[in-house]
Amino acid sequence: MSARAGLAALLASTAACSGDLSARPAARDAVSPIPRTTQSIAAGAVLYRDHCERCHGPTGLGNGPDALQVETGVGNLVERAAVLRPGSIAWKIQNGWNSMPAFPQLGEVEVWQLVHFVQTLAPGGGD
Ligand code: HEC
Repeated sequence: MSARAGLAALLASTAACSGDLSARPAARDAVSPIPRTTQSIAAGAVLYRDHCERCHGPTGLGNGPDALQVETGVGNLVERAAVLRPGSIAWKIQNGWNSMPAFPQLGEVEVWQLVHFVQTLAPGGGD
């Protein structure tokens, strides 16, 4: 590999790390089976309160009561929701991510209701 190609590959992998990384690239391109409506977002908000808020906090800032127990931190969903593709958010809920547990008890519709809600956490993500 030429030095130039090596540098390009290095830059590409660095960009991938700070951007949208999911363990299965095909999952990133998944499209929601349910429309994004006021109702689906509201249903996602209820699920978020039940399953996610204890770590991610009420508005996604990462300040839920259980966040302190996660040594590596729970990140900032307000920032991450703006970067992650919907399919990545869905995949991470279904499979877990770093220290986050998987949620196999949630059905596909519930997962995508959560995705619709999580996207509203980002500035401008509520439209
Ligand atoms: C036990 C605490 C905990 C709970 C409960 C939890 N998470 Fe997480 N979440 C984490 C941690 C830890 C990470 C990984 C942060 C990192 O290192 O990137 C994470 C990451 C994420 C990411 C990926 C962010 C990124 O940077 O790629 C999303 C999306 C997410 N959580 C959504 C949810 C949703 C939706 C729920 C509820 C179904 C939920 N989380 C429940 C701890 C939690």
